[in-house]
Amino acid sequence: MDQAGTLRKLAADGPEGLQGERELPLAEPGRPRSRPPRVIAVSSGKGGVGKTNVVANVACALARLGRRVLILDADLGLANLDVLLGLAPRFTLAHVIAGEKTIEEILVPGPAGVEILPAASGVQELAELQEPQRLALLRELDRLDGGRYDLLLIDTAAGISSNVLTFSAAAQEILVVASPEPTSITDAYALMKVLAAKHRERHFRLLVNSAADPREGKEVYRKLSLAVDRFLHVSLDYAGYVLHDEYVPQAVRQQRLVVELYPYARASRCFLALARQVADRPAPSAPKGGLQIFWRQLATQAAEAPGGRGT
Ligand SMILES: Nc1ncnc2c1ncn2[C@@H]1O[C@H](COP(=O)(O)OP(=O)(O)OP(=O)(O)O)[C@@H](O)[C@H]1O
Ligand SMILES: [Mg+2]
Repeated sequence: MDQAGTLRKLAADGPEGLQGERELPLAEPGRPRSRPPRVIAVSSGKGGVGKTNVVANVACALARLGRRVLILDADLGLANLDVLLGLAPRFTLAHVIAGEKTIEEILVPGPAGVEILPAASGVQELAELQEPQRLALLRELDRLDGGRYDLLLIDTAAGISSNVLTFSAAAQEILVVASPEPTSITDAYALMKVLAAKHRERHFRLLVNSAADPREGKEVYRKLSLAVDRFLHVSLDYAGYVLHDEYVPQAVRQQRLVVELYPYARASRCFLALARQVADRPAPSAPKGGLQIFWRQLATQAAEAPGGRGT
């Protein structure tokens, strides 16, 4: 399909956003006032471009740098993260949505001390959550003690379903993953277009995965940033590239992470560089507005900060 065709199809399928959903109460009295984690959603539009590998490897590398990391598998109906990590969780977000378990009760330990909120596989209702269920899940997440983590990474599903859009918009930062394939580039563009139109997202970061070399990564960024700048009026920063590397699928087949199994592989070095960049870059200083995970905790923090609403 050509670019116009891809975009037309995506625009036609575009779901309604979560507009007007800003009415959460402020922090409950007596709630711990610890600093909430920085929340980064990893999304792509096109499937199979490497989101889950990026999330898992960067999380592991960040943990090695001393950061406390939580991963949310937001590919709710087709969970992959647990398989990638060789885990077999007994309880998943499906139990949370069904009201049978709390968020804390489904947490599972992963590599290097990373904690994981696993999703279920083959549950169609989860892939197509209704808005009240999505909001209930976000509220459940909000109940987690954010102070336990420095970062929450969200591995979203492919496509531009309401689930994907909600979880992306609920993060403080959105990392868009694209590969150099033209369809991946147009789908990344389409994702940003829908997030800008329906959720008023204005800033994105781009990671080019499976690049042949650094130059190809930069070229994909140049193409996309020209298009989003011109047609969407949003800003796109370059988060860098991960090189195409046969050690990645080799590690996947062993249900291990490439950064663990082959730490000196080309891709592993890129994942480490990306983790360092995330660790070194300051977190956004204020909530961006709209419905966010840890919204109440962020709101409390903003209100208590010098010059915040509470001062
Ligand atoms: N840098 C890389 N070099 C080589 N192969 C890669 C690289 N990154 C990912 N892959 C391969 O691409 C496949 C898809 O990766 P992954 O599952 O992480 O993608 P995804 O975007 O999460 O997919 P989905 O949209 O289905 O959730 C994997 O089998 C993995 O081995
Ligand atoms: Mg995935």
